[in-house]
Amino acid sequence: MASPKLLLQLCISSLHHITASVFSLVWRWTPGAFKGTDRTLEERKVQNATTPTSVNYHFTRKCNYKCGFCFHTAKTSFVLPLEEAKRGLRLLKEAGMEKINFSGGEPFLHDKGDFLGRLVQYCKQDLQLPSVSIISNGSMIKEKWFQTYGEHLDILAISCDSFDEATNQLIGRTQGSGRKSHLDNLYRIRSWCQQYKVAFKINSVINTFNVDEDMTEHIVELNPVRWKVFQCLLIDGENAGEVALREAERFVISDQQFQEFLDAHSSVSCLVPESNEKMRFLDCREGRKDPSKSILDVGVKNAICFSGFDEKMFLERGGKYVWSKADMKLDW
Ligand SMILES: C[S@@+](CC[C@H](N)C(=O)[O-])C[C@H]1O[C@@H](n2cnc3c(N)ncnc32)[C@H](O)[C@@H]1O
Ligand code: SF4
Repeated sequence: MASPKLLLQLCISSLHHITASVFSLVWRWTPGAFKGTDRTLEERKVQNATTPTSVNYHFTRKCNYKCGFCFHTAKTSFVLPLEEAKRGLRLLKEAGMEKINFSGGEPFLHDKGDFLGRLVQYCKQDLQLPSVSIISNGSMIKEKWFQTYGEHLDILAISCDSFDEATNQLIGRTQGSGRKSHLDNLYRIRSWCQQYKVAFKINSVINTFNVDEDMTEHIVELNPVRWKVFQCLLIDGENAGEVALREAERFVISDQQFQEFLDAHSSVSCLVPESNEKMRFLDCREGRKDPSKSILDVGVKNAICFSGFDEKMFLERGGKYVWSKADMKLDW
């Protein structure tokens, strides 16, 4: 079984918002640094390590939804203790982290959102990170959370793949019957973001069930700072292949279908497309997500070195943008 510490592989192994994280590479190469030495290739790789400017931290894999396409399935319920998680975050900050994004699983599930809130507060208040953000399905968020922690959060992204409840049921983006509707939650959270001055974002995964939907009207009404539109992606071992807990093949659309969806929404200026080609760029180059080393075990630089991060693709997919709410000039 994988070491629990792997869960704090805040970076390394994955595809951007999936498992672990994303780094912008700032080369620390000193010309001539290795001249005349007999350093090993591994040592050189460490020396040439990159800076983890932007990090995704998936501290839990547990979730209360059952989205059929999900590529981050609950293989373990382990969550690192708060102080250890903070230690990892401090190591990343010392290595150059500027942006942290909390994802999962569902990040508001553990400790009713308090664990997440404490990390958000720590990242903003103690580590003074310019950007602190969260991706959530929105189902567990209460107004009290905004009252307690909202001031420390720059961006909250809520995932919404359809504005039709029946389609959300088909996808599995729901808590089951009798519970609050996903769309009611979405609109409620949108107004709390306005009230508590948190920039609001939407993520949508385009798949066989929503590819023909016109979402323009709702997106314009909700007016997010960004609408990230993902082409449904398969990752071997997560949502495809023999050992996977989910089989997402029936959700997959072609590149052409994805392009047609983008064309149909070309009037939406906040739309940021994430094609499969763009997303598959860390350890997932082979369509797999292999665990990398834990920063708590090997340190940040070593962990990044073995992660296979692709800087060019990170920048091409808009990895760097205005990510602090103070710089957004939003009309709260
Ligand atoms: C794994 S979820 C975790 C956070 C939270 N539970 C949520 O759904 O927003 C992070 C993001 O990955 C997206 N996602 C999940 N499976 C995907 C897939 N197969 N292809 C593309 N994006 C996917 C989700 O829609 C969500 O926006
Ligand atoms: S809400 Fe859906 S996409 Fe997010 S972690 Fe849960 S099952 Fe996966």
